[in-house]
Amino acid sequence: MEGMSPFILDDDAREALFVGARSNLKFADRPVSMDTIIEVWDLIKWGPTANNTVPLRLVAATSDDARARISSHAAEGNRAKLKAAPLILVAARDERFHDHFAVTGGTETAAARFDADPEARTRFSHTNAMLQTGYLILGLRSAGLAVRPVGGFDRAGVDADVFADSPWRSEVLLLVGYPTDDHGAGDRKGRIDATAAIREI
Ligand SMILES: Cc1cc2nc3c(=O)[nH]c(=O)nc-3n(C[C@H](O)[C@H](O)[C@H](O)COP(=O)(O)O)c2cc1C
Repeated sequence: MEGMSPFILDDDAREALFVGARSNLKFADRPVSMDTIIEVWDLIKWGPTANNTVPLRLVAATSDDARARISSHAAEGNRAKLKAAPLILVAARDERFHDHFAVTGGTETAAARFDADPEARTRFSHTNAMLQTGYLILGLRSAGLAVRPVGGFDRAGVDADVFADSPWRSEVLLLVGYPTDDHGAGDRKGRIDATAAIREI
């Protein structure tokens, strides 16, 4: 079987998820429905997280008002980019993920331990929410959507504005829309190849 592809997804699927997908700055003039976002969530929620904590939460800013509100907290260079996106998803971590252990299968002992250690909850939920954000990007792409992640924004500003009285804390913004012929993201930058990235021991 030498030379056979190791992949179970075909070329088109791998193109859509990785090789041909860009971090778009331009999107088609077509709204993204909440039904689609919900379907994508119901797919990507199956990706693994530590202790099955599933700490990622999403706030969808779909209206002009909501997008302007989120954009006001972005770094100067990101503001116009945010306004051009049909949908902004605020990807957030739930610092009280242990309140959901009845659903996610955590023990009462573990819940009590997390409850007593807010610093551990921040670290744990950050790591796993970012991991889930990776699944989310691929899930959105698998629904034919283009995504640009944006980390350049005032997290404390968004948290005070959107998450007051909530244990959710912003991690990253995802600009989401259907692609156009022109992705607007410029020439693609290089990636580290396997010879530099992988060592066998
Ligand atoms: C966590 C994260 C934060 C990012 N922050 C920004 C940002 O603040 N502004 C921006 O324009 N792009 C941002 N990007 C986009 C990256 O620059 C882009 O995904 C990367 O260069 C790969 O581009 P490509 O997918 O088109 O190859 C961010 C991406 C990630 C994953």
